[in-house]
Amino acid sequence: MGITKSRREFFGVAAATLASASLLGKRAFGQIAADKPALLGGTPVHTGGWPQWPEWRQAWEPSILNVLRSGRWYRGTGEQVQQFEVAYAKLLGARRCLATASGTTALIVGMHALDVDAGDEVIVSPFTFIASYNAVLINKALPVLADTDPDTLTIDPASIEGRITERTRAIMPVHIYGMPCDMDPVLAVARKRGVAVIEDACQAWLAEYKGRMCGTIGDLGCFSFQNSKHLPSGEGGAITGNSDDLLDRCGSFHDCGRPYGGFKGTRPNFTRGGNFRMQHVQAVMLMQQLDKLVQDTARRRENAERLTASLKEIPGIRTVRLPENSRAVWHLYPFRYDAEKFQGLPRDKFIRAMRAEGIPCSTGYQEQYFDGLLDEAINSRGYKRLFSAQRLKDYRESFQELKGNRLVCETTVAVTQNLLLAAPGEIEHIAAAIRKIQAHGAELARA
Ligand SMILES: Cc1ncc(COP(=O)(O)O)c(C=O)c1O
Repeated sequence: MGITKSRREFFGVAAATLASASLLGKRAFGQIAADKPALLGGTPVHTGGWPQWPEWRQAWEPSILNVLRSGRWYRGTGEQVQQFEVAYAKLLGARRCLATASGTTALIVGMHALDVDAGDEVIVSPFTFIASYNAVLINKALPVLADTDPDTLTIDPASIEGRITERTRAIMPVHIYGMPCDMDPVLAVARKRGVAVIEDACQAWLAEYKGRMCGTIGDLGCFSFQNSKHLPSGEGGAITGNSDDLLDRCGSFHDCGRPYGGFKGTRPNFTRGGNFRMQHVQAVMLMQQLDKLVQDTARRRENAERLTASLKEIPGIRTVRLPENSRAVWHLYPFRYDAEKFQGLPRDKFIRAMRAEGIPCSTGYQEQYFDGLLDEAINSRGYKRLFSAQRLKDYRESFQELKGNRLVCETTVAVTQNLLLAAPGEIEHIAAAIRKIQAHGAELARA
């Protein structure tokens, strides 16, 4: 795929934004901080918008038209899905890859291949998109929530073993926001207790942990290529792994239970399965963006490093700690916010003030285990058949123990990945806006 546009056009940055970036460069942070906050009628720190996401390139169109014109649209004909699987596995250093319809279906298929069955339990990171919980529920298993480490925002490995029961089949660490979980202690407890590890790497394309890519470290790894993701095709997903047997089982289950590779099932008949296949058009979109993913990832990392260096200087802003020898890819860039250091300005108002300064940001995930989804599941006829009343009662009560996760849910603020694709001068605007808001915390709190 050639990059025909200039870098500037590529990131779609308006000239006005550049002007404001250089203005900031000439003014000390202290001066900016003294300016009136935009929420109180002052001038925003950042004007001119941020790089758009996703990005489309005309150069990608001919290969897509070729697929459309061929009429060979589904996986059973044509070869593009398989080509993508080979290319993605190579990029990650995985032995195998199976493309799927979505990240959710990748998790569902992967758990089936790992023999997660009705009435089993799976230990899950609570600070995640709801699909991680739902994929377990669809397999009629119980998503048992481990705690979150407030320093890393990922699963606290020390909270896993005490939650393992005789029904536990798997652990699902989630590399949330593209930040690698500390996998060594997760793998150690999994091996010790004889349970599988399925990595939810749906936000972690090319994230690295101790020289290996996330999604290739546990028994299986699952990815999402939904529209907002760093490698988007509208919908789409993948399972990666190093075991031919597991990947063949995934292949069969994702293709209506047909024999797949070395997995013959109950040949010549179908075994259990569904239709979780990817289409060729999606595969072509993905293949053409692989080089771009590598380039964008490098840029996000450079800008995230700059941002971290600036934010570390601000009292009341706590940047995340990554596991030793690991590299994040920043699907969102999170930090924890301490309202006390902002003269009592509540987090929601801080976010409003940031948005007014031209810095889009939001809270992280909420304590969604109190939102009714899990109650609905455990009060259902099926779950009451599968688990004892005592187990379901203890399970519900265990949500109160997630103190690390509560803190993370209450204090996290995150900016989205597209900001990290902006020019370095614009990245400075994020810290400048925070300093301005901090200097006016009491006024903003009253407003
Ligand atoms: C952490 C996580 N897990 C699972 C999923 C599910 O992926 P999909 O939306 O492709 O089904 C997502 C998607 O947003 C995700 O962020």
